[in-house]
Amino acid sequence: MWTCGHILVWSCGRVDTGQGMKTIAIISQKGGAGKTTLAVHLATAAALSGLTTAIIDLDPQGTAASWGDRRRAGEPEVISGQAARLPTLIEAAQANGADCIILDTAPNADQTALRAASVADLVLIPCRAAMFDLEAIKTTLTLAQIAHKPAYVVLNAVPPRSGIGREAAEGLTRQGAQVAPVMLSQRVAFAHGVIDGRTAQEFEPGGKAAEEIAELYRWACGRVDMPASAPARKVA
Ligand SMILES: Nc1ncnc2c1ncn2[C@@H]1O[C@H](COP(=O)(O)OP(=O)(O)OP(=O)(O)O)[C@@H](O)[C@H]1O
Ligand SMILES: [Mg+2]
Repeated sequence: MWTCGHILVWSCGRVDTGQGMKTIAIISQKGGAGKTTLAVHLATAAALSGLTTAIIDLDPQGTAASWGDRRRAGEPEVISGQAARLPTLIEAAQANGADCIILDTAPNADQTALRAASVADLVLIPCRAAMFDLEAIKTTLTLAQIAHKPAYVVLNAVPPRSGIGREAAEGLTRQGAQVAPVMLSQRVAFAHGVIDGRTAQEFEPGGKAAEEIAELYRWACGRVDMPASAPARKVA
């Protein structure tokens, strides 16, 4: 398992100031909402578009870190970290040329979620379009408010070809939540792609799951003012 690996290696030969680095925190107090799924897919989208990207896995379950261990591709790097060390890890990443950091967090961990939200440029809150999940989201929305960071609910695992996602989005908006205009459907590629350390966009390139992630990624880039692909220097 990575502990604090390549982020330090990046420093070798790099002169990037890292000033443009963006941090996206994925938080939800509800277990199984899709935090890790969102984290690995968005981070891979950023890495595939040429941005130097790392996931910081703040969840003691280490799901993203295990995914990183299974992954053959070098990027995104996955670093296991503790929330208390987050400012240090973010600083190291920035100093060593990272363009994009994705924070994966644990469920039922208010302090970790709050710390992650506090250092982030954008907070994404995955939520299933089911009654219990929609009810449970209030705590997470409150945490994002406390951190004073822009926060969007990302409806996840929405049954395709149904109005359920749209209805959930309308309900959340009525409650005052901001909802991302792109939702992720319940798709086999999201679950199967990660088995051997890949993602949907690598497991089934050009598939519907890959399309949804590409769209969500482009939208997220717009929210944090991050280029959706790297300048030429990074693509080599
Ligand atoms: N859009 C989707 N389509 C299909 N399966 C999904 C989707 N999103 C998540 N899953 C599956 O749902 C399960 C839970 O997802 P995930 O591990 O990402 O949630 P989590 O919020 O990180 O959970 P935890 O709170 O335990 O950290 C996993 O088996 C994952 O593969
Ligand atoms: Mg998880």
